[in-house]
Amino acid sequence: MASQTHILCFVNNKGGSGKSTTCANIGYSLSSLGYKVLLIDGDMQLNLSLAYFEEEFVLETAKSEKNLYAAIKYQKDLSDYILSTRYPNIDMILSSTLMSSIEYELFTKWQREYILKNGLKKIVERNEYDYILIDSPPTLGGWVMNILCASHYMITPVEASPWGLFGLANLFDFLSDIKYVTPDLQMLGVCITKADTRKNYLKQTITALEELKHTYVFETYIKVDSSIEWSQENGRPVMDYKKSSRSAIEYLSLTKEVVSRVNQQQKH
Ligand SMILES: Nc1ncnc2c1ncn2[C@@H]1O[C@H](COP(=O)(O)OP(=O)(O)OP(=O)(O)O)[C@@H](O)[C@H]1O
Ligand SMILES: [Mg+2]
Repeated sequence: MASQTHILCFVNNKGGSGKSTTCANIGYSLSSLGYKVLLIDGDMQLNLSLAYFEEEFVLETAKSEKNLYAAIKYQKDLSDYILSTRYPNIDMILSSTLMSSIEYELFTKWQREYILKNGLKKIVERNEYDYILIDSPPTLGGWVMNILCASHYMITPVEASPWGLFGLANLFDFLSDIKYVTPDLQMLGVCITKADTRKNYLKQTITALEELKHTYVFETYIKVDSSIEWSQENGRPVMDYKKSSRSAIEYLSLTKEVVSRVNQQQKH
């Protein structure tokens, strides 16, 4: 049983930066380290759901009432929306394509920033999970506010490319602007993804990120690896698809850094 549930979200308004891939694979690596994990797919693109389940099942769930959209719309306790994955230590709340209209649903609700946080309350109180990981869409609206308000820590995956860094300053400005509604949220760190060691961008990315004040950059970076795409094609995390692959090893190493930083922050 978990002593305390840590809630981590993966946020970057830049699309394709590796949020869903990183969330899916850190989730699996955490379970391989013995932690109990709940994954929450907060994006209408259903990528986190597809990383663990067959497409047919994901689409069926998206149309049913057993997904995050329904839970948020009707402000339910999220406990009733948890589904088991094929891995005993990993559960998931799947998403729906209807999440595209979640901003509209939130608009009329009282204390609309806290609907996800309230929905998670009972799960957190039961101390059932060591980690809850939330994947988010590439936006910064009211729904992502909900994700940030529900989380203790935020991880920002950044693609090692010139455009990957573009807009990062806006993200950090947004975070400081909303600090009054998210006083408990801590930025855990930036992780570099899709790094191509043959190109010079990696070095430039690392230098540019190091110049950002108050931003911790994880030492492990995830390189471009075709095993990632194959694992996604097969609806499995890369560590299960090919344990010996470079990205599986890198994600495990990144996960150990994440655990160590969370434990460090706990002491402060
Ligand atoms: N290390 C990697 N090597 C190769 N391809 C990768 C790697 N990481 C991610 N990808 C691919 O890059 C694309 C974007 O990754 P991902 O979907 O995780 O980003 P995202 O930030 O969640 O995107 P969005 O903002 O659209 O939600 C995907 O097609 C994924 O397969
Ligand atoms: Mg995604």
